[in-house]
Amino acid sequence: MSLFEKAASVEPKLAEVLAIAELAMGDDQAHGWPHVVRASKYAEAIVISEELHDVNWPVLCIAIALHDVGRSKEKALGRHHSFISAEMAGNMLIRMGFSHGFTDCVKKAILAHSYSLKVRPETIESKILSDADKLDAIGAIGIARVLYTSCGMRRGFKESIEHFRQKIIKLPDYMYFKSAKKIAVKLIEEVNTFIQWYEEQSFLLEINI
Ligand SMILES: [Fe+2]
Ligand SMILES: [Fe+2]
Repeated sequence: MSLFEKAASVEPKLAEVLAIAELAMGDDQAHGWPHVVRASKYAEAIVISEELHDVNWPVLCIAIALHDVGRSKEKALGRHHSFISAEMAGNMLIRMGFSHGFTDCVKKAILAHSYSLKVRPETIESKILSDADKLDAIGAIGIARVLYTSCGMRRGFKESIEHFRQKIIKLPDYMYFKSAKKIAVKLIEEVNTFIQWYEEQSFLLEINI
C-alpha cells in the first residue's frame, strides 16, 4: 500500500485534496506534481526504514502534496513560497471542512520544509517532508531538476554549477533521519562526480562558461 493509499484509508477527503493538488501543481518536472510523487516515495522509504508508527498519514500526505503549491506566486507576491503554500493549503483545508488543529499541523510542516527559509521542523511529519523534499534535490534527479529549472529561468551553466556548490552539496547536512542521511550521502556522490566532470571538460576546452 502506497503512502497516499494508506492516508486515503483513514481520511475519506484525501482523494479530493490530492486531485486538487495535482491540478494546481501542474506537470513542472522540477517543482510540480512529478516532484510531489517522488517526494512521497522518499517519505515512504523513510517511514519504513525508521519504523515510524506514530505518523499522521493524512497530515504528511497533504503537506507533501501542497508544500510547493505557492511557488509560482513567489515572485509576484515577494514572499517565500513556504508562507504562500502554507496559506493556500490552510485556506483550502478549512474550506473543505478539515479541523483547525489538522490544518495547523499541515501548515507547520509546509512552513518548515525549505532549506532556504531555515524554519526548524518540530513534528515528525515536518521532518519527514523536509528530508524527502531534500532527497529529491540530489542525485541524478536533482541534477536534472537544477538544469530543467535553469533552462526555464535562463540561468547559465556556470550559475547552475555554482548552485550545486552553494546549496545542493550541503543538503546531506540537513537531514533529520539516519536513513535519509544515508541515501543523501550516496546521492551526493553523483552530484560531486557531475561537478568534477563539468570542471574537467571545461578545463580541457579552456572555457569558463
Ligand atoms: Fe519548496
Ligand atoms: Fe519541494
